[in-house]
Amino acid sequence: MAASPTRDDFDSYMTPNYSPQQAIPVRGEGSRLWDQAGKEYIDFAGGIAVNALGHCHPKLVDALTTQGNKLWHLSNVYTNEPALALARELVTRTFADKVYFCSSGGEANEAAFKLARRWAFDNFGERKHKIISFKQAFHGRTLFTVSVGGQPKYSEGFGPVPGGIQHARFNDLDSVRELIDDDTCAVVVEPIQGEGGVMPATPEFLQGLRELCDRHQALLVVDEVQSGVGRSGKLYAYMHYGVTPDILTSAKALGGGFPIGAMLTTDRVAPSLAVGTHGSTYGGNALACAVGLAALTTIDTPEVLEGVERRHALFREHLEVINRKYGVFKEIRGMGLLIGAEMSDAYEGKARDILPLALEQGLMALVAGPGVLRMAPSLVIPEADIQEGMARLELAIERLVSASE
Ligand SMILES: Cc1ncc(COP(=O)(O)O)c(C=O)c1O
Repeated sequence: MAASPTRDDFDSYMTPNYSPQQAIPVRGEGSRLWDQAGKEYIDFAGGIAVNALGHCHPKLVDALTTQGNKLWHLSNVYTNEPALALARELVTRTFADKVYFCSSGGEANEAAFKLARRWAFDNFGERKHKIISFKQAFHGRTLFTVSVGGQPKYSEGFGPVPGGIQHARFNDLDSVRELIDDDTCAVVVEPIQGEGGVMPATPEFLQGLRELCDRHQALLVVDEVQSGVGRSGKLYAYMHYGVTPDILTSAKALGGGFPIGAMLTTDRVAPSLAVGTHGSTYGGNALACAVGLAALTTIDTPEVLEGVERRHALFREHLEVINRKYGVFKEIRGMGLLIGAEMSDAYEGKARDILPLALEQGLMALVAGPGVLRMAPSLVIPEADIQEGMARLELAIERLVSASE
């Protein structure tokens, strides 16, 4: 029998665009994981806001295995029951009238941006093609989505990039007013900038964007790939703001760990995605949609969503206690279970140093850029795991502090 793969195999056989930690997890249950050596970890990372019901949740395992024994894939030459059922649930539970399925957040955004342009083209002509997005925004890794994203490092060296894209400042309506005009087809925004540092939009900002879009007949595209499916404490974060988007993108937690993406829109906009304009072989895959349906209907319940608020308060309390002792954070922010702790000036740029220290203690966490420690755990993480995870985080922070003295 071949020997078990090792971390060295990553360097030997995989392209070097990632730099994974040394430990290789092999098993997960709830908010705990175990690596090849049997070491146990508490998971505050949640696969980057994906494992919203933890690892191997019985309802997701049941949906996957039941569907796995029935029918996996058909292509879009046929439709299938899980896709239809999931689309119906998404429509019933949100502003949307129509759903387009794909396999990732980047693909959902690619579809959203193409639809916005096509809708403007159909209704106003080619001139109305400008897209406004925001500095620090992240929308995926395709060439269009890195170009709409607001972090130049992700598109550097991949040019020529698509044109007609402008970047305003997040939470700064004046900067949008300076750019928007009747040639703008869409304003694209994350209600909580995730990769950009866990930065929630202010209500005035999102409401103001809606008004500006209405004034200039532009579409408001809300990227909820990271903030969606319960993460904020509501099914989608836009629901906190009293703002209705024209297009919403969802992925990550929608599959609870199985790859799926969705773009939601209205009957006013959807006709521009006419037959043949766009598509994906795997979009609406039966296995993915069966798991997505189980994830959505399990998460969108008062029990789970209220639990997110309670857990948010617990995370905050623990982080504040740690901060009172060590003074490592300047600000603790976020919504629901998307939480960011921005490093204080003395530890500027050191968020990433915490990750291996935490791992040593048996804790998985994330960063959002070099300055923010990020947590996006399971929405149903047991309170005992939060306490234990925070005790481990404190040990990691203690090490960071003593190494810096
Ligand atoms: C807000 C947002 N949009 C889009 C994406 C891209 O999603 P994916 O990696 O599934 O393509 C991400 C991923 O982190 C994200 O946070």
